[in-house]
Amino acid sequence: MTAAAPATAGEKTAALVASVEDLRVHFELKAGVLHAVDGVSFDIADGETLGLVGETGCGKSVTARSFLRLIPTPPGRYAGGRIRFWPKEARQSGGEPVDLLQVPTSDMLDIRGNRIAMIFQDPGKALNPALPIREQVAEVFYQHRTEDLLEAWNGRAPRPIRRAASQRAGKLERLAFKFPPLRSQSKRLKRRVDELVGDALAETQIHNPRKIMASYPHELSGGMKQRVMIAQALACNPDLLIADEPTTALDVTIQARILELIRELQHAHQTSVLYISHDLSLVRRICDRIAVMYAGRIAEIGTTQQVFHDPRHPYTQGLLAAVPSFAHRRGELAAIEGTVPELIDPDPSCRFHTRCAFATDICGRVDPVLDGRVAGRPVACHGYASPEELGVAAAELPHLDRSPA
Ligand SMILES: Nc1ncnc2c1ncn2[C@@H]1O[C@H](COP(=O)(O)OP(=O)(O)OP(=O)(O)O)[C@@H](O)[C@H]1O
Ligand SMILES: [Mg+2]
Repeated sequence: MTAAAPATAGEKTAALVASVEDLRVHFELKAGVLHAVDGVSFDIADGETLGLVGETGCGKSVTARSFLRLIPTPPGRYAGGRIRFWPKEARQSGGEPVDLLQVPTSDMLDIRGNRIAMIFQDPGKALNPALPIREQVAEVFYQHRTEDLLEAWNGRAPRPIRRAASQRAGKLERLAFKFPPLRSQSKRLKRRVDELVGDALAETQIHNPRKIMASYPHELSGGMKQRVMIAQALACNPDLLIADEPTTALDVTIQARILELIRELQHAHQTSVLYISHDLSLVRRICDRIAVMYAGRIAEIGTTQQVFHDPRHPYTQGLLAAVPSFAHRRGELAAIEGTVPELIDPDPSCRFHTRCAFATDICGRVDPVLDGRVAGRPVACHGYASPEELGVAAAELPHLDRSPA
């Protein structure tokens, strides 16, 4: 599978794995409605790594969790938009995508972990402290690779076993152990599960996978736990891996190794990746394209090269100036003045206008849309808008370099 041409100008290409369109996720709080994600759109091309970056609280995790419908409702509410997802068969045969916000719960259970997998920031919290690692990774196989496990059976598995196997995770093995006539089969099954779990762990280059299988999470270091999470996530060869700040809790050297590992496994499995981080320099190392998020919206999208060398949105320009390696002089650090705006019942306006050096009157009155016509790639800033469409004189727009990239 080859990576599709990324939809740099926002156009839809045939080989997309996912397309987020005008996603809105709100939280009904006592103080009002928090517009955590408010009109977010981006595409993920088949085989690409898309970085989603932005300051804390800008809605990255809410966007990511929406793919798997993991937002608690209430207080959350999917207030609009859709997330289209093309499973492998649909991509290969030109079939229809599914809307992840609309699919029945039973389909979503199959998608989670099987088609779309997620790794989280804190592996310590995501793993169950009371279960050995083997059981936690095996769970994925029970849930999504039942047919494969049933092949370990000598002859066709009896119907109650098949039925149980397709129901809940782990039931297959437990059931097989319960009935004496099935015990020999259960050994076979256990061996097959051990093999699958061992292979999945070995793929993450974890030291001594057999020993790790018998360990409990508290016996492992942070880096090891993250490898277990990666093994779990990639066990079923998902079409899309969502990595939500997977290395934030790790120290820098381990961070680099985990990043490298994700990249290697992504190539081996041909998985598309949505990589979330607040750390621009980190995203730069592994992403093909980057979507910059600010206060519940996308500020701009471009290839990694474009975003780093030709940032168009004033927020991205500010972010890059704040990255230490991009500051011009040693010891001099730039910061973006002001604070992120209140997201409760916001008025129409550019969310960045209170902190923007280029803002004009229009920025405080009208929501900018993500548009690629002037900048050559999607940017949500009136500096790249059409004055005619906005009904203002060109001089009333923020003065930004409008020359195409
Ligand atoms: N369950 C919830 N109930 C109420 N508000 C929530 C809930 N989950 C998220 N939010 C709010 O939604 C907004 C976006 O949160 P989100 O977790 O997506 O931020 P983030 O960009 O991932 O930040 P970080 O970099 O700190 O992880 C925040 O204001 C947060 O307080
Ligand atoms: Mg987050």
